[in-house]
Amino acid sequence: MPDIRRDELFRSAVTPGSFRFDAEVASSFDDMARRSIPLYRDTHAAFSVLIRNAPEGAVHDLGCSTGSLLVQIDLDAPERRLVGHDPSLAMLDIAAGRLPGAEWRHNDAENAKLDGAAVVVLGWTLQFTPPERRLELLRRIRAALPPGGLLLIAEKTEPEAAFAEFAMAAHDAYRLDNGYTPEQLVHKRAALDGVLRPWPAAQTEAVLRQAEFRHCQEILRWHAFVTWVCLA
Ligand SMILES: C[S@@+](CC[C@H](N)C(=O)[O-])C[C@H]1O[C@@H](n2cnc3c(N)ncnc32)[C@H](O)[C@@H]1O
Repeated sequence: MPDIRRDELFRSAVTPGSFRFDAEVASSFDDMARRSIPLYRDTHAAFSVLIRNAPEGAVHDLGCSTGSLLVQIDLDAPERRLVGHDPSLAMLDIAAGRLPGAEWRHNDAENAKLDGAAVVVLGWTLQFTPPERRLELLRRIRAALPPGGLLLIAEKTEPEAAFAEFAMAAHDAYRLDNGYTPEQLVHKRAALDGVLRPWPAAQTEAVLRQAEFRHCQEILRWHAFVTWVCLA
């Protein structure tokens, strides 16, 4: 297991929209995720339990980053075939070092081959995909899953206008309580502008219906952070 470096990024101002999942971000990603994404570990734990009861077949994690979820699933369900996909080589290098027995593929979600899939995971990944192609991606995932197969999605959503200020204040407070400075929050928000493109939860749900999942259920929520399980 590599040392988890503390996330000290975004102490200085950056070019708006410049956020990338590069080597610098990858090296402190685990710390960043735990201190920035509410319910990060609870979501992984919930996914891992759901996967124990999914039909036989592979778990494809699209946007797997450093492989934390697949490491947990490997402990809970060691018989599962695990495939992690990510367009960041720096992320995949760390993931492969942690779990050499899984398959690690360098591609984005749209180009992922979902061979033998019983479960597909989009953990805070759909928000980084081109919005105009999200429906097509979800249709492809739906088509790859067997009856009873699962799509597990976690997203940072766009809060409803009336609640936006509360949601942003809550997320800021969460990160400040976890040791980030106010400047880091301002700089990171600018860096992510136009890179992380959240949708309202209702829009994601509408597109999931269009993609013809049999049923989608919200299972976790922390303000704008929403997790769904969808049944094929
Ligand atoms: C917030 S992280 C995901 C966290 C991860 N799923 C977890 O549970 O720890 C987003 C990841 O999506 C990847 N990514 C960005 N654009 C993507 C795309 N179009 N398709 C698939 N992955 C993408 C990034 O390289 C990054 O590793």
